[in-house]
Amino acid sequence: MRNIKWGVVGLGNIAQKFAEDLALVPEAVLWAVASSDIERAEEFAQKHNVTYHYNTYLALFEDPNVEVVYIASLHPDHVPMALQALQHGKAVLCEKPLGVNAKQVQELLDLAQSRTLFLMEALWTRFNPAFEQTLQLIEEDALGPLRYINATFSFNGLDRSLDSRLFNPTKAGGALLDIGIYPLFLAYQLLGMPKDIKASAVLTPRGVDLQLGFVLTYDTAQAILYASFSHDEDMRATICGEKGEIYLPSRWHETDQLHLMQSGKKTTRNCPVTGRGYYHEIIEVHNCLISGQVESKKWTWKNSLELSQLMDQIRQQCGIVYPGETI
Ligand SMILES: NC(=O)c1ccc[n+]([C@@H]2O[C@H](COP(=O)([O-])OP(=O)(O)OC[C@H]3O[C@@H](n4cnc5c(N)ncnc54)[C@H](OP(=O)(O)O)[C@@H]3O)[C@@H](O)[C@H]2O)c1
Repeated sequence: MRNIKWGVVGLGNIAQKFAEDLALVPEAVLWAVASSDIERAEEFAQKHNVTYHYNTYLALFEDPNVEVVYIASLHPDHVPMALQALQHGKAVLCEKPLGVNAKQVQELLDLAQSRTLFLMEALWTRFNPAFEQTLQLIEEDALGPLRYINATFSFNGLDRSLDSRLFNPTKAGGALLDIGIYPLFLAYQLLGMPKDIKASAVLTPRGVDLQLGFVLTYDTAQAILYASFSHDEDMRATICGEKGEIYLPSRWHETDQLHLMQSGKKTTRNCPVTGRGYYHEIIEVHNCLISGQVESKKWTWKNSLELSQLMDQIRQQCGIVYPGETI
């Protein structure tokens, strides 16, 4: 396989972890990084052995050697930065959520389509071995018709400042876009688009969701989902069918194990994760680029768009609107 040269923009917490997993992929070259802060870029480049570092994102997008850009910036910057990267002919892997709302996501997909360029939302759980194994078991009808999903994602972020990306509405803060997207993804991926959603949230005084619960109803199934920044919890996921259940242990979105229950008998399957788990989405990007695919078959453009439409609906019901936005 040929080498693939990556650029990374927005050098915060997740970019550090991503760079560590990128180093585990022999064909991946971390060619350039860019930050709004040149010292952060220098430090990052030194730590991760990066060839070039820039103090503007544009300089990275203009680097002809960069083939694919990983966007790890704040939520409202995802679409503007991804648009700019695509306009410079780059393939793009963009952190979740792909856009703040479905309108933004559609604009991005339109550009990727018209330029015939690869674009994927970094919904890394989709590529993790335990989730792949879950899909396979469902495909093999190990559970029978699915009836019920329960998944949560919470951590105590109450010590973060009101200006942090968790709580600041101008940074599209709130639990849904940041972590509620994971349980929503699970239900959407396994059950599809629901016929009904009921959502309710506890909002901060500035109107972002501190914690929220949402129920998705289908013709013959329901998903009960929850996300919160206000407490820690043991994050597990339960997937029940008429013939069996899968339990994804804590923390389910990155677990390396699953428990299958059939006729009262429990079996455990180990699903080893490489690195922190970002490795697996990186491999998917490489496979797509090598085979000339503009979108992943595992997490498609339609999937990202529908997920953002569901988040729009949930936000509408909870009254979560970001400054300058109409959804
Ligand atoms: N996949 C995962 O497991 C995972 C985990 C955590 C977060 N995420 C996602 O990754 C993205 C970034 O999250 P993070 O936790 O890495 O955030 P973070 O540590 O706060 O870093 C975000 C980066 O955004 C840029 N930025 C631009 N304006 C900023 C401002 N006013 N304040 C702070 N930063 C600003 C900075 O990049 P510069 O270097 O350019 O200044 C900063 O380093 C989000 O979309 C989040 O949802 C994903």
